[in-house]
Amino acid sequence: ESIEKGGYEHFMLKEIFEQPKSVKDSMRGRINAHKGHILLGGLREYINKLTQAQRIIILGCGTSWHAGLVAEYVFEELARIPVEVEYASEFRYRNPIINEGDVVIAISQSGETADTLAAIELAKSKGAIIFGVCNVVGSSIPRATHAGAYTHAGPEIGVASTKAFTAQVTVLTMMAIVVAKTKGTISDSLYRELLYALEAIPDQIQKTLNNHSQIKYISSIFRDARNFLYLGRGYNFPVALEGALKLKEISYIHAEGYPAAEMKHGPIALIDEEMPVVFIATQDSSYEKVVSNIQEVRARKGRVIAVVTEGDKLIKQMAEFVIEIPATHEALVPLLSVIPLQLLSYYIAVMRGCNVDQPRNLAKSVTVE
Ligand code: G6P
Repeated sequence: ESIEKGGYEHFMLKEIFEQPKSVKDSMRGRINAHKGHILLGGLREYINKLTQAQRIIILGCGTSWHAGLVAEYVFEELARIPVEVEYASEFRYRNPIINEGDVVIAISQSGETADTLAAIELAKSKGAIIFGVCNVVGSSIPRATHAGAYTHAGPEIGVASTKAFTAQVTVLTMMAIVVAKTKGTISDSLYRELLYALEAIPDQIQKTLNNHSQIKYISSIFRDARNFLYLGRGYNFPVALEGALKLKEISYIHAEGYPAAEMKHGPIALIDEEMPVVFIATQDSSYEKVVSNIQEVRARKGRVIAVVTEGDKLIKQMAEFVIEIPATHEALVPLLSVIPLQLLSYYIAVMRGCNVDQPRNLAKSVTVE
């Protein structure tokens, strides 16, 4: 087992550090920015269904559902197709409406999640075309779908999903770009910009990972916290959810992810001088709004940890800790902003003596409903 861990103390840490490679693998042979190419072979036969979709319904559970939420923002922004993201377990039990022109994308690392599989069968019986975004080749979900794209992240052993998430977001983003290009909803120059930005992501993930000792230090400060709040807006809202989920799963600290603006409708009541609040506050279209949310937390003496874009000076003056990530196109930010949150949860869990690779009560793949 220690050989399989490749010198890392845990599978989860190995998988976090593998992300420059796993994200590259999910793009390998599919994208060439220089030539302006992007191609997902597994979609070819059904790509018109996706391009002409009136609505996309995304299904998943857990971290895969979070990847679906990121995809909602990306598809709507770039491809201008309305998207609904559903928990597979809710979808399958509520007689969902599927119209002609609706397309389903099911996301699953294992390809075996019982609720997702059942939701696919239900959607199929109502006539929907289903695409799969899965990691495990030959698993049940890819076999049940009409078409799909594997994430090619390699085996994920740690129960808490890390590299599968970034691979899912990468593949879904590529799908959105293909559709947007075909539909003409993005300009040629934005198309090129996105391809180059995607190709740069693996190196930028590496750069983010190089901050690990700073994140370890921050973890040592907050290891005994009893609650955590994660806040983000726009593309970073799903990242806030994912950051909170990671912490809950492996450290057993109660954590909530929220859209930063919703804070005033509830979570703000929890903020006192002991409450760590993780802001994902990169320089994008909601930056100024997030800055004012940080001020609201500071005014109530909350302890702010902020994930910011490299070179940000404003938030440095307000937050107790800032973690920098490289600048990229707004739609790709989740691929970078999630990395420090994975590390934060990992280090906190290890410092609390938790079994990070096999947290209590959780399973890698949930094959019962
Ligand atoms: C379990 C795992 C999670 C995963 C979820 C969905 O809860 O512990 O890490 O996100 O199932 O699994 P899937 O294989 O369908 O992505």
